[in-house]
Amino acid sequence: MNLISIADLSKEDIIRLLDSAEAFRVRRGHHGEPLQGKSLAMIFEKPSTRTRVSLEVAASELGCHALYLSANELQLGRGETVADTARVLSRYVHGITARVFSHKTVVQLAGHASVPVVNALSDWEHPLQILADLQTMRQRFPKLEGLRLGWIGDGNNVCNSLILASAILGMEITVASPQGYQPKAQILEEAKKLGGRPKVVAEPAEAARDADVLVTDTWVSMGDEAQEAERLRVFGKYQVNANLLRQAAEDAIALHCLPAHRGQEITDEVMDGPQSAVFDEAENRMHTSKAVMAWLMGQSEK
Ligand code: CP
Ligand code: NVA
Repeated sequence: MNLISIADLSKEDIIRLLDSAEAFRVRRGHHGEPLQGKSLAMIFEKPSTRTRVSLEVAASELGCHALYLSANELQLGRGETVADTARVLSRYVHGITARVFSHKTVVQLAGHASVPVVNALSDWEHPLQILADLQTMRQRFPKLEGLRLGWIGDGNNVCNSLILASAILGMEITVASPQGYQPKAQILEEAKKLGGRPKVVAEPAEAARDADVLVTDTWVSMGDEAQEAERLRVFGKYQVNANLLRQAAEDAIALHCLPAHRGQEITDEVMDGPQSAVFDEAENRMHTSKAVMAWLMGQSEK
C-alpha cells in the first residue's frame, strides 16, 4: 500500500488514520515504539521544514531510523534511474517518502519499490498535509461531514488534495482563484467521481462567505519561482485578511500549510489572531505522520 494521492484512502481509512493520529497526540511520550528496528528513507528534491522534521521526529518516536536523503546527494542526481533507486532502497528500508518536483517521479518510485511509498509533496498533491489539516478541523468542529471549506488563492498541489479529501468525506469546498490558476479539470472530474461537488469561483468573498474553514497557501509554490513577478501581480486580492475572515462563519478557523508569506496570501492579523489554527496544523503533521507510518510500515517486513 502506498500513499501517493489522498484519494488512495477511503473515508474509513482516513477516519481510522485520524483516530490513530489523535491517539498518538494524546499519548505522546508513552505510546511505545511499534516500528522498532525499522528504517525510513526520506528523499527530498526540494527544501522542507515541517515535512522533514515531523517525519524524522515521528520516526524516531516510533523507534524507526529515518534517513534524510537529498536527491542531489544521491546517485539519482547523477542519472541513476528512479526505478533502480526504488529497487535498491527497498532492499534496505521498510518505507520511502519522497518530495519531488514531478508527480510522475513519486508514481514511478511506488511502481518499482517493494516497500510502501509516501508522497511528501509533488507538484500535483500533498496528501500528508491534508491529513494534518483534517485532524485540525476535527479538533475544532464536531464532525467533518458537511463542513464548508473556502480555498483562497492558487489551485495548486495542496488545493488538489483538499478538493479530493472534501469529496471523500462529504465536505463542501469553494475555491476562489484567479483565471489561469484555478484547479485543473482533471482534479474536478476526479472529485466528482468521488461524489464531490467542488465549486470554482473568481471572487474570494464568494468562497469565504459562511465558510467554517478558510484555507490558503503561497502564491508562488516551489518550482514556480520563474513566474513570481506575474503571480504576485495576479494574486493581489486573493489574500486571507481580517476583512475576508469576517465574511466567514463566526467560529471559522484559518489554515495555512506553511511556510507563509506574511503580507501576501495571509496577513499577520489572521496568522496570529484567535481564529488561526496554523500552528496546531503544523504540529498535527507529526501526529498524522506517525499514524501513516505505523499503518503502512507496521506491515513491512524484511
Ligand atoms: N507544509 C509543508 O509541507 O511544509 P514544509 O515545506 O516546510 O515541509
Ligand atoms: N504549494 C506549496 C506548499 C508548500 C508546503 C509548494 O508546493 O511549494
